Amino acid sequence: MARIELRRIRKQWGEVVAVDDIDLTIEDGEFVAILGPSGCGKSTTLFMLAGIYMPSAGELLFDGIAVNEVEAKDRNVGIVFQSYALYPHLDVRRNIMFPLKFKGVPKAEAARRAEEAARLVHVEELLDRMPSQLSGGQQQRVALARALVKEPQLLLLDEPLSNLDATLRLSMRTEIKRLQRHTGVTTVLVTHDQIEATTMADRIVCMRRGRIEQIGTAEDLYRRPDSLFVASFLGAPPINLLEGEARGGRLRVGEAELPLTGGAEGAVVLGIRPEDVRLGETGLPARVLDVEPMGRETLFLLETPLGQLRALLAGATAPYRAGDSVAFTFDPENSILFMKSSERRLPDVRARLPA
Ligand SMILES: Nc1ncnc2c1ncn2[C@@H]1O[C@H](COP(=O)(O)OP(=O)(O)O)[C@@H](O)[C@H]1O
Ligand SMILES: [Mg+2]
Repeated sequence: MARIELRRIRKQWGEVVAVDDIDLTIEDGEFVAILGPSGCGKSTTLFMLAGIYMPSAGELLFDGIAVNEVEAKDRNVGIVFQSYALYPHLDVRRNIMFPLKFKGVPKAEAARRAEEAARLVHVEELLDRMPSQLSGGQQQRVALARALVKEPQLLLLDEPLSNLDATLRLSMRTEIKRLQRHTGVTTVLVTHDQIEATTMADRIVCMRRGRIEQIGTAEDLYRRPDSLFVASFLGAPPINLLEGEARGGRLRVGEAELPLTGGAEGAVVLGIRPEDVRLGETGLPARVLDVEPMGRETLFLLETPLGQLRALLAGATAPYRAGDSVAFTFDPENSILFMKSSERRLPDVRARLPA
């Protein structure tokens, strides 16, 4: 296992800066997810950890030792790609054994370790099959076994679940988490899927345009997003964002004026998560514009004095219909304010409904 440090790591191709001076420390045995939209530099970061790409600048350390110049094959890193990339002409057993070939592991020992890795990911029945005879999920497991067989000090997963159907994704999430706990291997998962990141990782690194927006637990990012970007990237249905003007302890938003605690002046954005909008008899008036059943929850689109709001209520049966008049409140603790110009959160500022 290893503690991984990225110090002002940069990767560029000509004018294209894919990774822009990022700093990140991953603790020994930690499971970190790099989360962000397509093209933000996730895979490039992962490929630098693997030794497939050389950083353009900065220092990369494994257990305090600089590895910038160390080639991929000498890093003892296991990697699983989105495409699985199994060798089509080798059976499962030989696919899993493959990484041991270059490590001088005797054949009998390699076969034993391949079987052990196969058992770990539950493909021990498939050892004699060819990759073309496997389902997507089985191929994924074989790719995992191949990454784990050399007992890597670092496991890298690049969108490993995106080619699987929804049900399989769910079980593989649990499975990968179990494997990571069981082996204790330091793991970096790259994904654009917030659910994957929040359910699997100890900490999440949220990236945007080659830079790190925020590092924290799922709860940190969801409840205390540093920026508008993080606030809107996490959460489905997305957070309500309302532009307003803060002045003298009051926030003008839509036709309403809300008391503010904490100091803010100027153009701000008020964020309220849909599940934090409470519907009932008291509070500000609202009209139901639309109702969307979402299975065990129901989403309401409301016209309110603040502007349009989405409210998410538990329960499959909707207590209100389009056209109904309701009232709503929210807990000031659940209000999140951002400076509009910088898009940064104002951590000590809260809004509440007028008494
Ligand atoms: N080999 C390459 N040559 C030039 N540009 C690249 C190369 N690989 C990636 N990029 C660019 O770097 C940026 C980040 O890419 P990538 O790390 O693959 O993003 P992600 O994995 O987050 O979708 C993108 O703009 C991409 O086009
Ligand atoms: Mg990628």
